[in-house]
Amino acid sequence: MALKSINPTTTQSWLKLKEHFNTINKTHMKSMFAEDVNRANKMSIKWEDFYVDYSKNRISEETLELLIGLAEDIELKEAIEKYFSGDIINETEGRAVSHTALRAPKGSEVIIDGKNVMPKVHRTKAKIKKFTNEVLKGKRKGYTGKNFIDVVNIGIGGSDLGPAMVVDSLTYYGNHLKPHFVSNVDGDHVNEVIKDLNPETTLFVIVSKTFTTQETLSNATTIRNWFLKSATQFDVAHHFVAVSTNIDAVKDFGIDENNIFPMWNWVGGRFSLWSAVGLSISLSVGFDNYNALLEGAHKMDTHFKNTPYNQNIPVILALLSVWYNNFFKAESEAIIPYTQYLNQFATYLQQAIMESNGKTVSRDGSRVNYQTGNLIWGEPGTNSQHAFFQLIHQGSKLIPVDFIGFAEALHGNKDHQDKLMSNFFAQTEALLNGKTKAEVLNEFENSDVSDEKVEQLTPFKVFEGNKPTNTIFINKLTPESLGKLIAMYEHKIFVQGVIWNIYSYDQFGVELGKQLAGKILKEFNLETIDNHDASTAYLIEYYKKLRK
Ligand code: F6P
Repeated sequence: MALKSINPTTTQSWLKLKEHFNTINKTHMKSMFAEDVNRANKMSIKWEDFYVDYSKNRISEETLELLIGLAEDIELKEAIEKYFSGDIINETEGRAVSHTALRAPKGSEVIIDGKNVMPKVHRTKAKIKKFTNEVLKGKRKGYTGKNFIDVVNIGIGGSDLGPAMVVDSLTYYGNHLKPHFVSNVDGDHVNEVIKDLNPETTLFVIVSKTFTTQETLSNATTIRNWFLKSATQFDVAHHFVAVSTNIDAVKDFGIDENNIFPMWNWVGGRFSLWSAVGLSISLSVGFDNYNALLEGAHKMDTHFKNTPYNQNIPVILALLSVWYNNFFKAESEAIIPYTQYLNQFATYLQQAIMESNGKTVSRDGSRVNYQTGNLIWGEPGTNSQHAFFQLIHQGSKLIPVDFIGFAEALHGNKDHQDKLMSNFFAQTEALLNGKTKAEVLNEFENSDVSDEKVEQLTPFKVFEGNKPTNTIFINKLTPESLGKLIAMYEHKIFVQGVIWNIYSYDQFGVELGKQLAGKILKEFNLETIDNHDASTAYLIEYYKKLRK
């Protein structure tokens, strides 16, 4: 059964939140902390190795009650049940949204189209395990009998970003295989990657749910041609494997049937790293670590499904995000991990969040009359502190920030870790408290700066503070904790989509550009081009003259 269509702005809670906003909007978080010594304790959640402190938000206990009321008014509980039980909640594509089934343990049951999908999920996992072990132990070799050294994942969007982010994040747990990712149809990308590779010792994993994506098929073809310069068609079977739902197209490409890893339509591309799309993860960090990633995600699934809203991490984070997006009219959210390993995390979340909730048509087919979606951006701390933090601290825009930190450094350098973590805590404190005029003047006392200069400089040195942050503090970056973290954001996306009354699991917005590109590509070799606006027509003609 499909999700219900409920316009959130017509619910009682929304109307109350609107009124409530007018009072809380004028309150500084500093005074909220001063009034309630237990605030941090009340507004935090300890779960497994996660400690989520959301007390540095512009909310009171009443705000929370109202937000939770909103979750009830839009019937979140029923929606969560449909999400986990294989209902067709991706209604515009007629599909279930069951990436959670991919990490459910053996013996569980998820019925999609009347059939339990768990046996085939675990059969595919067994295939991934066998393949990974054979490659890592050197039982599977290249066409000249050498062990594999490099693995190239060829895919784009969800068939690239998830695996690339996880492989990078888990570099510490990596083995002797060197991972590479080719995604862009820009030929310079693929050529840069292959230029130093040895075809005899490189394994290629072509990942495409549809096996029709221009970028992936172009890159795969270029790589196969490069490979065939030194090997034969027969050797392709040793070096190319594919992950796809489109088995016939994969076979047509020349890939051996045994080297095809299936995935299914009920797994959305941007949520597919838990399927065989994660093959390059398993190869890069070993099957046990890949499995631990899935187990972590499953733990978060269970937490999300079974925990009351006021202790439910993804639900609270989603409600806060709606609070800022729809009441404070904040447009973006920053995600700042305090570990260089999560360098690609924000990029990955950009697809997961923006492709999911960047919609303007509500579930009843009408245009929404409120703001949906979030702009997502971020870079690891402390680098980002020296780049764009100025705007977060003193700019005119309200930007809620998730600070993600890990207590333990993987290489164990305590000196660096203490410096890193002191910054991690300092930033959220600074964003909360800011710096008053009195504090600025106090700092000038005993300095030799003239009174005139002090007066001139003071306004620039004042920080308003009152900037919202969540602190997601985790014991250690492990495959399991990373799995939990990714699943946390996946469920946050789901909750927000349900509240905004949109369909989070289609992506029609990427189609129009693709269609036009197909048309323009043909025109490069035609005498006259078709009807275009004057700007595009001139650009196409200009390119036709310049291209070599
Ligand atoms: O960008 C659109 C999209 O359909 C994504 O949702 C998907 O992750 C990506 O293209 C790649 O698609 P495929 O795995 O079918 O090649």
